[in-house]
Amino acid sequence: MSILPEDKPQTPTPQPHNFFIYGATMSGKSYFASFFPHPLSLNTDGNSEQGTAPSIQIRNIRDENGKLKQSAIQQLDDVITALQSTDNTFQTVVVDVIDDICVMIEQAICLDNNVQALSDIPYGKGYAMFNTVLQQFVMDLKALPMNVIYVSRELQNVDPQTGTIDRVPSLKTKYYNIVNGNCDLVIHTQKYGKDTYMRTVEDKRTQYKEENIKDSRIKQLLKSCSGMFTEE
Ligand SMILES: Nc1ncnc2c1ncn2[C@@H]1O[C@H](COP(=O)(O)OP(=O)(O)OP(=O)(O)O)[C@@H](O)[C@H]1O
Ligand SMILES: [Mg+2]
Repeated sequence: MSILPEDKPQTPTPQPHNFFIYGATMSGKSYFASFFPHPLSLNTDGNSEQGTAPSIQIRNIRDENGKLKQSAIQQLDDVITALQSTDNTFQTVVVDVIDDICVMIEQAICLDNNVQALSDIPYGKGYAMFNTVLQQFVMDLKALPMNVIYVSRELQNVDPQTGTIDRVPSLKTKYYNIVNGNCDLVIHTQKYGKDTYMRTVEDKRTQYKEENIKDSRIKQLLKSCSGMFTEE
């Protein structure tokens, strides 16, 4: 048999599996993510006790000499290996928050190399190592037969001339591109007043159709986001 597929057009029925959720603090990011089927939260901010999803705290732990006792990179690697084995029932991985995971990867590389910053590692090797680790992490997650949700905080850019506020994910652009190149939907959470929570789809890989979303729970969650199934 040839390794090439048959030369005829395909009829895709796309479903989103990789999500990027960003929003201001307390705007409902973790809350929304926790409704996805069988979630496992890779938590960084210590907020996890307040959530309902089972969670793992990701962190770098140093020994008394300042050396790395537990590396976040190794920890993430172990989690992915465990998720790759078939004897787990999780269906969604929530990276809460990806901004912190990036900082921890950076820290772990610096501690391993006894430097203060990635730029202290000669020939740009620090940045190269960082990109490799982040890219591998994102690709490994994508390869899992699960939904993946990246949570990021919000940055407000105020235009000094007009006073308009531009709200963007706080993840640095170059990291955002790595992560988002592997996401299908960008969802922005916002809270208005005391208890009005809004979710808006700001970007999507393709125009998804409601009837193609097989998981009824995910369908319901996506329907609660404005701009999801409507042409804009
Ligand atoms: N749609 C919603 N309806 C009712 N309550 C909500 C909704 N979304 C969030 N909340 C409530 O708002 C609170 C804050 O939400 P959540 O913890 O998800 O915020 P967050 O965006 O993850 O914030 P942080 O960046 O601080 O982690 C929670 O106590 C949650 O119960
Ligand atoms: Mg949260």
